[in-house]
Amino acid sequence: LGNTMLSNYSKHATSKLLSLRQLQTARKQKISSFVKGKGKLLSGTAVAVVGAATVTTYFLHQSAKASEDELHAPHLPWQHSGALKTLDAASIRRGYEVYRQVCAACHSMEYIAFRNLVGVSHTEDEMKAIAAQAQIVDGPDDNGKMFKRPGRLSDYFPSPYTNDEEARAANNGALPPDLSYIVLGVHGEEDYIFSLLTGYYDPPAGVVIGEDQHYNAYFAGQAIGMAQALYNEIIEYEDGTPATQSQLAKDVTVFLRWAAEPHHDKRKLYGFRALCFAIMFVPLFWYQKKRVFSVIKSKKIAFK
Ligand code: HEC
Repeated sequence: LGNTMLSNYSKHATSKLLSLRQLQTARKQKISSFVKGKGKLLSGTAVAVVGAATVTTYFLHQSAKASEDELHAPHLPWQHSGALKTLDAASIRRGYEVYRQVCAACHSMEYIAFRNLVGVSHTEDEMKAIAAQAQIVDGPDDNGKMFKRPGRLSDYFPSPYTNDEEARAANNGALPPDLSYIVLGVHGEEDYIFSLLTGYYDPPAGVVIGEDQHYNAYFAGQAIGMAQALYNEIIEYEDGTPATQSQLAKDVTVFLRWAAEPHHDKRKLYGFRALCFAIMFVPLFWYQKKRVFSVIKSKKIAFK
């Protein structure tokens, strides 16, 4: 009797244990399906919210754009755009002249040294002569004073102002940016710089411009602190190219593109070489593929 009772009891206990386990798994399943359901609901809501926010932001952005009427710089056919095109050295040379004689009065290019132009647009002797015309601050000397000396090839282009405050004070509060990397720093790159330099007009009727500001159709907000810098014949080119406003703007823009990317031509040359090298492997890969797949492709599989 004792044995039967014990076995009965153990059966009972096992069944209880089983039912407890079942209960637990059922509960777990319920919880997990509940969590899963919630997760789906949550992620669905999140997607909807993010979507709605994106759409709203897009339309807000559009409406903000519609209320400004500056022009977007049109895309221009630059001689150096294209995978195999190089920068026009003659244009860089003329552009440097424009920078030196016009823009350098207000804009620094502190990351470009005179030596950088040697072999690009000028010979070493030409650049030495140009550098020697610049007055470079050096020192301190034996008495602890800074002094000025003629420039050398290793000097960086001198800045027109000693600090930003002086630059602002001389330009009615507007800071002329450093032009070393300006082409990469503005939206539209060369197209924008060219359009900006040639985009000065009388303000349209109803548009009021501040006293020290100028109307430029391509500048964000249209009121720019920089006066029109380029006019027909403002400088004379040594190579006899007619110095029209658009020619001056084009040349200085090409010069600024070179400054922002001095390795432009080399980059394209190396890219081309790498491509040629890679193309050599095409027949090799084709042959190898045929060889490996010939076994597989000529195999017949029969299921019996
Ligand atoms: C009389 C001083 C002066 C001269 C000369 C001058 N600039 Fe400027 N430039 C400024 C000032 C000031 C600003 C800042 C304008 C502003 O933020 O409203 C500026 C801004 C710029 C900008 C930035 C525009 C932008 O979108 O932020 C570029 C590019 C530029 N100048 C290029 C040139 C080039 C190229 C030349 C020579 C052809 C030149 N500047 C000549 C004073 C000058």
